[in-house]
Amino acid sequence: MTTHAQTALWHPFADMAAVASAGELVLASGEGAYVTDVSGRRYLDASAGLWYCNVGHGRTRIANAVAQQMSTLAAYSAFGDLATRPALDLAERLSSLAPMPDAKVFLTSGGSDAVDTAVKLVRRYWSQVGRPERTTIVTRTHAYHGMHMAGTSLAGIEANRHGHGDLDPAVAQVPWDDAEALAALLDERDDIAAFFCEPIIGAGGVYAPPEGYLARVREICREHDVLLVADEVISGYGRAGAMFASQRWQLDPDILLSAKGVTSGYMPLGAVLISGRVAEPFWTPGESSVMWRHGYT
Ligand SMILES: Cc1ncc(COP(=O)(O)O)c(C=O)c1O
Repeated sequence: MTTHAQTALWHPFADMAAVASAGELVLASGEGAYVTDVSGRRYLDASAGLWYCNVGHGRTRIANAVAQQMSTLAAYSAFGDLATRPALDLAERLSSLAPMPDAKVFLTSGGSDAVDTAVKLVRRYWSQVGRPERTTIVTRTHAYHGMHMAGTSLAGIEANRHGHGDLDPAVAQVPWDDAEALAALLDERDDIAAFFCEPIIGAGGVYAPPEGYLARVREICREHDVLLVADEVISGYGRAGAMFASQRWQLDPDILLSAKGVTSGYMPLGAVLISGRVAEPFWTPGESSVMWRHGYT
């Protein structure tokens, strides 16, 4: 542990009084599944950073590709009709890997942005197709959907909600493992826009789905015409034994959220994969064509 009592770095999810007095663990390098701190001590990185470094540390091929792109064109916004070749190529690649037909790809800066994007998109979708009353998002106990305001409102880890004032009121919660509780809620209400679900609950305790649970929630969402959003920020890109956990459990989500493993943490990035059906009202030319006023530069 390297003590650095006058740190100005405010660590996420940290008791800073404790960190400032006890010191920080300062990491300096990484190779494969190992990282080394500034005093030369080597550690097995069993958590792969925070569940993002799917391909391991120290990949010079990635670093070189990033350096080459940065010295050619470091970045450009994709607002309006603008694009860059890497963004177009990545979107094609992710669309071809997506566990839903004709997927469109909306890029973000990370997982919490992807959650925020999806909460806005499902509401905007229903308003676009003439059901503007559908605004409520169903979430689960133990759920973690990032820490933007939308994700904080969806949190099923109670401690993550407290002390931030009024959160989004259009959220309903069901027990994480009870598909029939979801069915009962959807029978009762007609204002539900979407059900958000981590196929494998991560931060809330690492819970695999009970046998048959995901197939049943898929069926319930279909019966009630409620959008199913799979939050695969952790489980994506091979981590659950298939490219996406949605493929392992035949989830066929309407929207899939990803981040972390998409770059293995080498760059901050998230990607929302949107099924052709949900994208359709936004992509169809004609009098009702629409500009979705959302995006990150
Ligand atoms: C399921 C899930 N969704 C969203 C997020 C938020 O991702 P980020 O930390 O990149 O904003 C996380 C982060 O761990 C996550 O586990």
